[in-house]
Amino acid sequence: MQDNQNIEERKMQNRKRRELLIGASALAGASLLSPIARAQSAKLRVGLMLPYTGTYAQLGAAIENGFRLALDQSGGKFGGREVEFFKVDDESEPSKATDNANRLITRDKVDVLVGSVHSGVAIGMLKVAKESGTLMLIPNAGADAATGALCTPNVFRTSFSNWQPVHPLGKVMVDRGHKKAVFITWKYAAGEESLASFKEGYAAAGATVVKELFVPFPNVEFQALLTEIAAIKPDAVACFFAGGGAVKFVKDYAAAGLKDKVPLYGSGFLTEGVLSAQGDAAEGLVTTLHYADSLDNPRNKAFRAAYGKAYKTEPDVYSMQGYDTGLLLAQALGKVKGDIGNQKAVIAAMEGALIDSPRGQWKMSKAHNPIQDIYLRRVEKGDNKVIGVAWKALEDPARGCRM
Ligand code: BEZ
Repeated sequence: MQDNQNIEERKMQNRKRRELLIGASALAGASLLSPIARAQSAKLRVGLMLPYTGTYAQLGAAIENGFRLALDQSGGKFGGREVEFFKVDDESEPSKATDNANRLITRDKVDVLVGSVHSGVAIGMLKVAKESGTLMLIPNAGADAATGALCTPNVFRTSFSNWQPVHPLGKVMVDRGHKKAVFITWKYAAGEESLASFKEGYAAAGATVVKELFVPFPNVEFQALLTEIAAIKPDAVACFFAGGGAVKFVKDYAAAGLKDKVPLYGSGFLTEGVLSAQGDAAEGLVTTLHYADSLDNPRNKAFRAAYGKAYKTEPDVYSMQGYDTGLLLAQALGKVKGDIGNQKAVIAAMEGALIDSPRGQWKMSKAHNPIQDIYLRRVEKGDNKVIGVAWKALEDPARGCRM
């Protein structure tokens, strides 16, 4: 209630501020810096709402690093404006998402919200962004509804929908002769939506998921379910896990003696940013994703070199998504000369943006989600190597989006 009141007050303040600026601008002498120009030269307030603790902590840090790299490469400014950061650790905790987002909007008065990693957190943020009219950029969370039933003009995603990376995986597995698979994942939106999309593609290729297995998020007690998989003896296993949980799952899978008996597949998050921790247990795993370390294009090579130099570590899909979020903001704010208050023009610029990304060039769909290639990858000597394109220019179906 208090939050809603704050948001209403903020909307009103913004409206008044803009009216005042326009009025004052009309009166300002030609020799003086107009209030609008002054507002445009003020620092851009960016709210980073990411996980900095817990199983997704490393993902949050990689996104921030990528975002900051894009900012550095654009001279430390977006649309001519320096940037001031306001950070919140969202702990991948959906029940805190509304309060955290409200704090960034009402207390810190951010111009743009950037977040988050966890689908449930992103949906909480999106509701606040939608009500308050704050521009929001999603640098990871795949929640289908964000660019589906809950789509809204002021929210853009620079990563993927949960539907996208696993949609081609079913056909890949059938082509390899696996027609009876078990799917195992965390019980929350990202896992459930990955499963739904996998099932769709797998059924279309003529195969069936014989068992769906779930672990509560972010638990990593896999033993009982691995024993169940061994008893079922499926042709293969497909899964969604990421971050610290993916390390534990891949190691446990190998330690249970399943790796050489029942081939393991997954959306590529399974092996992103965690390969050195997974070691030999990850060797040979085949996954599908909108990025791969070894993508052979000049943009990816330059990005990987610059990221390595800046952070003394290898980038991953999360770093790349943070980077692309920065590229999108740089491009759109460049077009409107830093006037983020002119939201109509900012939205039009984002809708028309062409992002020259390390993943390959991409554009926004009508629902504000990247239209992008999905790569087939295999872990080789500790690297996610591209072994093919699983689907060219895949667009999320944006079910329920009316925009
Ligand atoms: C999600 O919750 O949407 C998500 C988290 C980590 C990796 C991919 C998706």
